[in-house]
Amino acid sequence: MKKLIINGIIVTASDTYQGDICIENGVITAIGKSLSPEGAEVIDASGRYVFPGAIDPHTHLDMPFGGTVTKDDFETGTIAAAFGGTTTIIDFCLTNKGEPLQTAINTWHAKAKEKAVIDYGFHLMIGEITDEVLQELPKVIQEGITSFKVFMAYKNVFQADDGTLYRTLLEAKKLGALVMVHAENGDVIEYLTKQALAEGNTDPIYHALTRPPEIEGEATGRACQLTGLANSQLYVVHVSCREAVQKITEARNAGFDVWGETCPQYLVLDQSYLEKPNFEGAKYVWSPPLREKHHQEALWTALKNGQLQTLGSDQCSFDFYGQKDLGKDDFTKIPNGGPTIEDRVSILFSEGVKKGRISLNQFVDITSTKIAKLFGLFPRKGTIAVGSDADLVIFDPYVERVISARTHHMAVDYSTFEGMCVTGEPVSVLSRGEFIVRDKQFVGKPGQGQYVKRAQYGSALASKENVTVL
Ligand code: URP
Ligand code: ZN
Ligand code: ZN
Ligand code: ZN
Repeated sequence: MKKLIINGIIVTASDTYQGDICIENGVITAIGKSLSPEGAEVIDASGRYVFPGAIDPHTHLDMPFGGTVTKDDFETGTIAAAFGGTTTIIDFCLTNKGEPLQTAINTWHAKAKEKAVIDYGFHLMIGEITDEVLQELPKVIQEGITSFKVFMAYKNVFQADDGTLYRTLLEAKKLGALVMVHAENGDVIEYLTKQALAEGNTDPIYHALTRPPEIEGEATGRACQLTGLANSQLYVVHVSCREAVQKITEARNAGFDVWGETCPQYLVLDQSYLEKPNFEGAKYVWSPPLREKHHQEALWTALKNGQLQTLGSDQCSFDFYGQKDLGKDDFTKIPNGGPTIEDRVSILFSEGVKKGRISLNQFVDITSTKIAKLFGLFPRKGTIAVGSDADLVIFDPYVERVISARTHHMAVDYSTFEGMCVTGEPVSVLSRGEFIVRDKQFVGKPGQGQYVKRAQYGSALASKENVTVL
């Protein structure tokens, strides 16, 4: 049925204006003032913002990791995402060495198909470059997986060597894919963690102390240099510190095609959380780790100046009881990651827009538009325009609320942001014209999310956009 969203303040990455949005067959068919309501269900958005559905470029749902499996799967994870204003996710498909890439991709489709309530795509992890991998990659691109992930850390688990990263960059250039890196020096981390354990330092705080910012800055710089050498393209995930921002900025200023993402936890939490008593610090174990507070300012400045361009959640949730506590006597056994998919957008709005650190249009760009452009989803997703999917968020910018595990929709037993007061909340969320959340109630159904094939890298990026404004 035709829908008409009237009187909302429509916000895109470039404009803010009052207007009506007409939706038919899942797409936006008209935008204007006083559109005819004939034959349409009318939704009044007076006093509210209407944003393009947010896109989360970094999730780990139903993923085996650290001797366990992430608690949120494609059902609970995408329901929570929708409550938070996210209408598309791109999840990381893990591969195993020696196994066909297609086997891994099929596994990920099976995890998502019957469960997702919003649209989804996949990135593909590259752990090795073999003749078989090289042969399969063109088909991977045809299937709409146009981004490859290389881990420079997690030694003996996911870590790839520099040769593999370099060859992945070369292949990505040929095929039109974006290479994503987890940039930390895994070899040095291994040395530092062994040393810490040998000295009897087993508490969660040692997770952070054995992965200092230099470890991230060094790996980020190395990945940037290899990208320049390969004349390829790079997206650095979960940037946590000033050192990494500096390397990305230098690379961009040198004309390299390099992009950076940060995550809400690095913007608002700091290293002291790892020192919470009663092993509670384990809730705050991420790689890279939370940093000393002064790094937050570098991240906010980089978002404002365009040196970092996107916000991902890095949703990777584990219960405190029964999962995080695997590392009770040894910080290296604490599963890395936390629940963040639901609060990513609200935190950027509240801490970013409301506190004057970024503009409203930048907020839309950082949570949606730029991600759509980088990952081959634009203009189908990432904006409010005639012909785009009607993925829309009706947002109350004034409501104040306190984030808590008691009210969140993720399946985990704690909240990363417990007790934090935020301003602004999605009221209703539509995916391809259908309500998923309506007046803060879930009205979607598992399986209604669709797999999205993504276009090759670069199609939606104007070359002039890749210039850092200092
Ligand atoms: O600690 C983290 N970031 N867990 C998720 C896996 C990853 O490295 O992105
Ligand atoms: Zn990572
Ligand atoms: Zn410092
Ligand atoms: Zn991640």
